[in-house]
Amino acid sequence: APGAQEFIPPQADTIDQLRSAATDCRGCELYRDATQTVFGRGDESAQVVFVGEQPGDMEDKQGLPFVGPAGRVLRRAVDDAGIDAGRVYITNAVKHFRFELRGKRRIHQTPDRVHITACRPWLVAEFARLRPEIVVVLGATAAKALLGPAFRVTKQRGELMPWPAAAQHPEDFARVPVDSAGKVADAPEARLLATIHPSAVLRADNQDVAYDGLVKDLKVAARALA
Ligand code: URA
Ligand code: SF4
Repeated sequence: APGAQEFIPPQADTIDQLRSAATDCRGCELYRDATQTVFGRGDESAQVVFVGEQPGDMEDKQGLPFVGPAGRVLRRAVDDAGIDAGRVYITNAVKHFRFELRGKRRIHQTPDRVHITACRPWLVAEFARLRPEIVVVLGATAAKALLGPAFRVTKQRGELMPWPAAAQHPEDFARVPVDSAGKVADAPEARLLATIHPSAVLRADNQDVAYDGLVKDLKVAARALA
């Protein structure tokens, strides 16, 4: 797979221009079976950018991220943490829905490393234009995209980290534009915080406990905002 980089027009200055270019991405094979590219959305001067895994069934049909059950959990948690929902941008590590057909049902499949790597240039392009203060990584897939395969959300959640010094595997940043000081070129102030994916709350034996843990982590981000 060629990866997304060649589909990103270097002259695309705005999120809208990126979103429109992403509709034609063929950087990996996931575009073939999915309905459409699901790009990020939200405030273009967002303080906080949330990164999920990939669009689900509803997102694939509607073309918008986090419009299903996980999105409801996320919005409630953002509110309860005291983060201004009008100042956030929400996107995914992988921008096409990966699924397996069982009869007529489309069953979610976790993206592989190849898909995460192929799609990462879109994420990097979003960060470069948004220049957020904090990037919140939701769950293991987003953590793999931004922090490398050795990062463990369960062990390192809720910690505000410099970026990309937190990377365990610097080679994962091979395609991320970093300057000589190792900073992401266009988002030098961004810090990073990992937490569980909101869908993990829905799957948890004790949803209240899982939800409170998510809110507690998001409050760390809320307190760190200027
Ligand atoms: N889960 C995600 O990770 N992203 C979405 O957009 C929806 C569900
Ligand atoms: Fe392009 Fe990402 Fe879709 Fe693959 S998943 S085709 S890299 S937008």
